[in-house]
Amino acid sequence: MSRLLLLLMVFSAQPALAAVAGHQHPPGKPLEQRKPLVLNAEEAAHIRLEMRTFLSGVQKIVTGAAHNDMKVVAEAATALGVAAAHEVPPALRQKLPLEFKQLGNATHTGFDDLARDAASMADPNLAMKQLGQVMSNCVSCHATFRIEPAPRKH
Ligand code: HEC
Repeated sequence: MSRLLLLLMVFSAQPALAAVAGHQHPPGKPLEQRKPLVLNAEEAAHIRLEMRTFLSGVQKIVTGAAHNDMKVVAEAATALGVAAAHEVPPALRQKLPLEFKQLGNATHTGFDDLARDAASMADPNLAMKQLGQVMSNCVSCHATFRIEPAPRKH
């Protein structure tokens, strides 16, 4: 084997190795790039509770679809829809950037669409496709924002 070919092989394998190790970030670029949402303890708890509701609903949707139980899927998705969303306290609403609210709304309306189609078409495969689309909002928002605890007032 030529020395050049060997060198090429070694170098082309490196990015893949770095990606597996999870250490692929350019030097000098901070790891934390998410925008901070400065929230007090109550507001942070409100968001986190809503999030755990999302996670448990997604678990029910996946389990229901796996068992071809589309009634469970429709009910779990409805519970994550616009109508079921917890009322956001006005002070918290004011602190949330437009992009955050848009991603949140898209998530709730996506679950409403999933619920409607699960009830009318009863197709677990379609439900999983829709869940994948809805969850791109989870991924985008998590990649964009983080909660920053507000300094406590003394
Ligand atoms: C509009 C923005 C947004 C969307 C959409 C969103 N999340 Fe979150 N999520 C957040 C933020 C912000 C946090 C807090 C991250 C941190 O700790 O700084 C969070 C945290 C969480 C947590 C941790 C909760 C805890 O108790 O600490 C879970 C679980 C979670 N999200 C699940 C989901 C799932 C599942 C979806 C989609 C179905 C979703 N989220 C959609 C913004 C979002």
